[in-house]
Amino acid sequence: MKIATTTKSLSDVPKKYVRLVVTENDQQWHRLVETKDGLLEYRIGAGKWKDMTPRRFRLFIRGIIQAAKNHQIEHLAVQFEESPFPQLERYGEEWVVSTIAENLLLASYEFTQYKSKKGKAIPQEVLLCGGMNKTAKRGFQRGLTVGTYVNKARDIANTPGDDMPPSKLARTAHTLAKGTTVRVNVLEPNAIKKEGLHALWAVGKGADDLPRFIVMEYWGAGKPKKDERSKVKRPIVLIGKGITYDTGGLNVKPSGAMHEMHLDMSGGSSVMSAIVCAAKLGIKKNIVALIPAAENAVSEKSMRAGDIIQSHSGKTIEVLHTDAEGRLVLADGLSYAKKYNPRVILDTATLTGAALVALGQHASAILTENEALQNTLQELGEESGDYVWPLPLWEEYRPPLQKTRADVVNILPTFSKFGGTIEGGAFLSFFAPKNVPWAHIDIAPRMDAIPHDKLSKGATGEPVRLLVRFLEQY
Ligand code: BES
Ligand code: MN
Ligand code: ZN
Repeated sequence: MKIATTTKSLSDVPKKYVRLVVTENDQQWHRLVETKDGLLEYRIGAGKWKDMTPRRFRLFIRGIIQAAKNHQIEHLAVQFEESPFPQLERYGEEWVVSTIAENLLLASYEFTQYKSKKGKAIPQEVLLCGGMNKTAKRGFQRGLTVGTYVNKARDIANTPGDDMPPSKLARTAHTLAKGTTVRVNVLEPNAIKKEGLHALWAVGKGADDLPRFIVMEYWGAGKPKKDERSKVKRPIVLIGKGITYDTGGLNVKPSGAMHEMHLDMSGGSSVMSAIVCAAKLGIKKNIVALIPAAENAVSEKSMRAGDIIQSHSGKTIEVLHTDAEGRLVLADGLSYAKKYNPRVILDTATLTGAALVALGQHASAILTENEALQNTLQELGEESGDYVWPLPLWEEYRPPLQKTRADVVNILPTFSKFGGTIEGGAFLSFFAPKNVPWAHIDIAPRMDAIPHDKLSKGATGEPVRLLVRFLEQY
């Protein structure tokens, strides 16, 4: 879908455009009407202006595209004017326009790569009429860029596991970074063993396509010299779980719980998109994205329950459950991050089904011991639309994971079903570099779109918007 702009006003655009008219009617109120001069108008209720919140606003914008799809509207024209919604003022005009552009793109997205009959995209075009001032233009460009990269993350994650094994995910990182100053370096299987990323290796060694460790670097503030302590140059490190398919391994998943597990690379695809988006936006900061990529497969080469791994950090891990593989690859990612002397680390992963039990499907879980970081992420979640909600990462949760033949176990030896998301976070905390602010974002609840989102089924591309906002602001 194309989003075009014109300085013409709505009344002056050609007849092929359906004109959008927003009213204060109830949100359910939708009408396609022909006016007496033979023009088509789509009238849509936004509810009382004063009741429009940022949360509702995003859905309202998406609803416009959904309506255009339902009515087969190919060309839609919208009069662009100052927001009549007082509750949106706290984020400013740039935010409003960025949010409009972003959500038009998110709502128009469909994953059609595997459809034999492609047909044309509906709507084909949204025309924003009336011209924009400088601030609005800036927001518009930002929104288009962010929306585009959220959709790229969705494209990657939506690809079936068979067509996106670790080697392909690595090539996709190269493709994504092309034309930007993001540098991509892929550790191939031999390098993974040589570097001692044995936890990543253990997870992926049973698959035909062996693990890759994808490193993306963006030196927007200039690359720091060796041992440079300057705070501005220490990078923000993002780590994303890149499990290209999760069968569960030898502790195989039951049928009905497996078929969407190509989406288990969502953390990886999101950090890949976020770092390239940051480069596109020209953010003047240093950023590193690490994506441990592996397929958790069933074969005679797969890791066994009961195996003990020598992880990159030096800590040994007893694998009690092969389906708790995400935390294994992230453990090596977190430990590897130390190399970069990071100023903050965010990891994101579709880590636990338990996160859906805790939060339903409207928010991702965040776990951190750093209160300031927790507050920042919650605020930016509200601002971006990638909502997050905290769970505790208290020291009480750690010792039970140390009662084992090795240094730690990857699940509680009791096989407890309680507090699974916290258990995952507590495990990761053994591997996060000390004295560096770190937050873990469990995006399992947001892996798959729900009808309320007004997005097409499949990957949501979360938390790209949150990460980009964080990179802009931190
Ligand atoms: N990728 C899954 C988590 C998941 C499940 C994400 C459902 C989205 C929807 C993860 O690797 C996994 O299998 N976790 C296990 C952990 C358990 C073995 C401790 C889970 O959640 O059941
Ligand atoms: Mn798993
Ligand atoms: Zn998984």
